Amino acid sequence: MTQPPESITRMLKSQGQEHLLDFYASLDEQQQESLVQQLEMINFQQMQKLIGQEHHEDSTSTDSIQPPVIYPTLPEDHQRYRDIGVEMIRAGKVAPFTVAGGQGTRLGWNGPKGAFPATVLTGKPLFRVFAEQILAIESRYDVSLTWYIMTSPINDDDTRAFFTDNNHFGLDPQQVVFFQQGVLPSIDGDGRMLLAQKDHVAVNPDGHGGSLLALAVSGSLEHMRARGIEQISYFQVDNPLVHVLDPLFIGLHVAAKDSSGQISSKMIPKRDPGEKVGVLCMVDGKTRVIEYSDIDPGIAAETDENGRLRLRAGSIGIHMMSVEFVEHLTRNPDDFALPFHMAHKKVPYIDLDSGELVQPEQPNATKFEAFVFDAIPLADSSIVYETVRVEEFAPIKNASGEDSPESSHQLQSDRAGLWLEAAGCTVQRDGDGHVTSRIEIKASTAIEAGDLRDVELPESISDGEEVLL
Ligand code: UD1
Repeated sequence: MTQPPESITRMLKSQGQEHLLDFYASLDEQQQESLVQQLEMINFQQMQKLIGQEHHEDSTSTDSIQPPVIYPTLPEDHQRYRDIGVEMIRAGKVAPFTVAGGQGTRLGWNGPKGAFPATVLTGKPLFRVFAEQILAIESRYDVSLTWYIMTSPINDDDTRAFFTDNNHFGLDPQQVVFFQQGVLPSIDGDGRMLLAQKDHVAVNPDGHGGSLLALAVSGSLEHMRARGIEQISYFQVDNPLVHVLDPLFIGLHVAAKDSSGQISSKMIPKRDPGEKVGVLCMVDGKTRVIEYSDIDPGIAAETDENGRLRLRAGSIGIHMMSVEFVEHLTRNPDDFALPFHMAHKKVPYIDLDSGELVQPEQPNATKFEAFVFDAIPLADSSIVYETVRVEEFAPIKNASGEDSPESSHQLQSDRAGLWLEAAGCTVQRDGDGHVTSRIEIKASTAIEAGDLRDVELPESISDGEEVLL
C-alpha cells in the first residue's frame, strides 16, 4: 500500500482535516491517486479563512442603503443608444455569455438546466432558445458571434454532450466556447470538510462569481481579445425571455454619461417585498446588489412617498461587462476573489464511523459561493437600466409555483401576446391581464416586438387557442 504524500498529510493535520484520509488505506491505487489529486487542488489557506468567517455572515449597515439612479426603459436619446449598440453588435464587439454551472436542485431536473424544456408549445430546451436567438441576431446584423458558456464539473460533460447530440442547434461548434468554473469543499457544522465518497471530497461550484476568474484562467478573455470582443452580455441559464444581446442596453452601457462601461445591470420593479430577487441599490456611493436572503425584511418592505417600494430595483441576473474590466480584476488570479457567501444545504456525505453514505434530511453543511454582482461596487461607476418584466424575465427555478415552468409559460405567452397586439392583432386576456391562449414565437420569426410588423398574422387569437409563429 502506498502512503499519501507527506506534504498532504502535514497540510491536512495542520488544518484539522486529516479525517479526509480515513479511508485511504482501503482504496485501490487509482482511487488513492484521485483523492490525492483532488486534495492537492484545494486551497487550504483560503478554506481556513472561509471557515473562520463562517459564524459572522456579512451584513450591510442597512441605514445607508439608498435606491440607485435608474435609466428608464425608454431613456432620453434611446434611439442613439440603440444605434450605438447595433454598431457594436455588427462589429462583432459583443459576445453572449451564459452562466450554467449551477446545480438546479430546486427544479428537481436531472441534468444541465439548459437542457430543460422551456418553451410553451414545442418545449425547446433553454440552450436552444438562446442558440436560435443568436442565429437570428447573426443573420440580422450580418455578423458571426461567439457564445461563451460556463459549466461546472458537475455538468460539463453532460452539457457538451447535449450540444453535440443537438448539432449545436445549428451553430458552428467553433462558435461555442465552454469553460468550467471552480469548486470549493462543503463543510459541516464543525468546519470539517465532508467526503462525498471515500475517495472524493464533497465540493460545490464556487458560485457564478467564480465566472470572472474562470473567464481569465480558462483563456476565454484572451480568446475574446483575439476576436475583437470588447463587451460581454452576461445572463443566467434559467430565463427563456432574456434578450441575449440587447442593443439599447449595450449602447447605454458603453455610452451613457454615468456609465464607466465596466459593468451595468438590468432591473425590474419587484413584484412584492418578498420576491426572491437581489436588490440593486446604492451603499456609500457605490452601486451594488444585496441578495434577497441578506436583506432585512423590514427594509425590503419600506415604501416611498408614492407608495412604491423604496428599494424596488430587482436584479434579474443580466449584466453588461467589459473584457477590460474582467481582465483588470483578474490580473493577479491568486489575489482575486469576490467575497464568499454562505448557504446551508443538504449535502450527502460518508459517515466516518460506518463508511456508509448518509442522505441528510436537514441542511447539514455550508457551501461557499461568490456572486458576480459583488463585482459591481469594484467598478468606477455602474448604471442600472429598467426593463419590463413580461418582456425579459420569466425564469424557471422551481418545479411548481413562482418561477416555475408553468409561470414561465404564462409569461412567455403574455409577451407573445403583447408583441402581437403591438402589430395589430387582437389577443384575448383574462381579468388579470394574462393571455388566455398559448403562443410561441420562434426567434427566426421575431426577436423583438417590432419584427412582427412584417409578418402575416391572424387577426385575433381566442381563448385556449395554440399559436406557433
Ligand atoms: C439569482 C440571483 C438573484 C437574482 C435572481 C434572478 C444569485 C445568488 N442570486 O438568484 O439576485 O435576483 O437570480 O433570477 O445569483 N450558477 C452558476 N454557478 C454556480 C451557481 C449558479 O453558473 O456556482 C448559475 C446558475 O446556473 C444560474 C444562475 O447562476 O444560471 C443563478 O443561480 P441561482 O443559484 O439559481 O440563483 P437564484 O437564487 O435563482
